[in-house]
Amino acid sequence: MTFRAVDLIELKRDGGELPADAIEWFITSYTVGDVTDYQMSALAMAIYFNGMSNAELTAWTAAMLHSGDVLDFSHIEAKKVDKHSTGGVGDKISIPLAPLVAACGVAIPMMSGRGLGHTGGTLDKLESIPGFDPHLDAGRFTRILEEHRLVLAGQSASMVPADRKLYALRDASGTVPSIPLIASSIMAKKLAEGLDGLVLDVKVGSGAFMKNLDSARTLAREMVAIGETSNVRTVSLLTDMSQPLGREVGNANEIHESVDVLRGDGPKDVTNLTLSLGEVMLELAGIEGGRDLLDEAIVTGRALQKLLDVVEAQGGNPSVLEDPSLLPVAQHTEQFTASRSGYVSRCDPRIIGLAAMRLGAGRRHKDESIDHSVGITVEAKIGDRVEAGDLLALVHHNSPDEYAGHEAHLQSAWEITDEAPVEPSLIIERIDASTI
Ligand code: URA
Repeated sequence: MTFRAVDLIELKRDGGELPADAIEWFITSYTVGDVTDYQMSALAMAIYFNGMSNAELTAWTAAMLHSGDVLDFSHIEAKKVDKHSTGGVGDKISIPLAPLVAACGVAIPMMSGRGLGHTGGTLDKLESIPGFDPHLDAGRFTRILEEHRLVLAGQSASMVPADRKLYALRDASGTVPSIPLIASSIMAKKLAEGLDGLVLDVKVGSGAFMKNLDSARTLAREMVAIGETSNVRTVSLLTDMSQPLGREVGNANEIHESVDVLRGDGPKDVTNLTLSLGEVMLELAGIEGGRDLLDEAIVTGRALQKLLDVVEAQGGNPSVLEDPSLLPVAQHTEQFTASRSGYVSRCDPRIIGLAAMRLGAGRRHKDESIDHSVGITVEAKIGDRVEAGDLLALVHHNSPDEYAGHEAHLQSAWEITDEAPVEPSLIIERIDASTI
């Protein structure tokens, strides 16, 4: 069946509902170039304003998913489960989580992305490890997964090509912040991994895509509904991003902190979130033992060994994980101190993430290269008592000029008050098939 793009754009513009076959035609035609960028931008804007029904969202996600290769690991006996985070500052959770859960018997075909703007990306962090290669062809990806039950890679260009094109277009046409377009974009990429289960970490707060609880809840519900409709058991945790996660923000320093978690010596928030998401992944894989099993994998060193094995299998030098002081280190470190005594009542992740990005830890545009050695160590977080002159952060950089230009703005990330604030809870809510 063929359609006219303009008829479908007008239908959506006027609040109508697009039939499933029309959606499939539109996305397929866009992927091959028969529907133009300007027609897709017009449709994306109509969706931005009018949203999508459940039926439209299901059809849209399926059409995106089938625009490219869909992986099949059904020959691997273990359940395949992955995790996705909507992105935050200091969010290195995938790096300790994936080997920890794989060490407990789940297969994890993890495909991660790069950082953009103030948020970091798992692939960038992993590339701090000398030699590590996240660009794997399908054969190597499958072999590593078969052998280790874990692989840590980027998504190949043959998977969900419609999203690659559409995301760039949305970025240039002001249509990124549409909840149905975000939900379908994330879920099409995850469903293409051939999963049995998926845990979604939907971040809420000033350092996240979703600044308030209502929009985070709506996004989480839409993604859980898409997953369940596609026979992938899906659970979402809404988690706090009103301050950076852990102490380290950057790349190499976040690998260091991830190894600390696998040694049982990580910051409380990173460890708790890793264990909570890990418990959900085990539940989705039907493996009993939950927290005890995860704790045991840490205490016995099996979880860290899993990371070492996979890093080696992907060309990386595992000895930097045994001695993280071998990771790239910045030339200069500045101390950032409190100007008054009191309680830290704000530790703004967006300001800290942007400062780290400007020092080279992230990228303003997707083609920029990054400096793995720079970053920020956050020494005082919400609720901490500090005295004037106490350390708030250490800034690791390679450019005194760049640092001097951003120092004042970075200072505004912290607010210190006389009253102790209410500390944010890390895990806010769970959304699953029983709550949508
Ligand atoms: N992340 C994605 O993968 N897609 C979106 O649309 C937004 C965030």
